Amino acid sequence: MRDGATPATGGVERLCGAGIGPLGAFAYDARMQITVRFLPSGACVRVPVGTTLLEAARRASLPIARACGADGICGRCGMEILAGADGLPPETRRELDAKRRNRVPEHQRLACRVAPTSAVAVTTPYW
Ligand code: FES
Repeated sequence: MRDGATPATGGVERLCGAGIGPLGAFAYDARMQITVRFLPSGACVRVPVGTTLLEAARRASLPIARACGADGICGRCGMEILAGADGLPPETRRELDAKRRNRVPEHQRLACRVAPTSAVAVTTPYW
């Protein structure tokens, strides 16, 4: 990529600033926004607290599998949490049931059900 060109991530990388490095180097934004980093691309977005991982991925222009309209039913939106799992709310009964019904691996969270309260890094098996 030549200098100044828009990266393949749609330009979202620059939104997170140069100070955000590899896993674990996240910071809270004073305006109650959090950083969501997507690996392996490294695409990064800052979103308001309360934004689901699915919506954050959409803002980063990353494809997310889903078949239920983000209703927590299909289990297709499973994401692996690589860093920042401490800032995630616990799994609800609905999420646990959807994961079990759809054979979603235990270590994944349903992106449409999870709204992190602090910075996270995530991936999916198909990115
Ligand atoms: S999009 Fe269907 S469970 Fe998340």
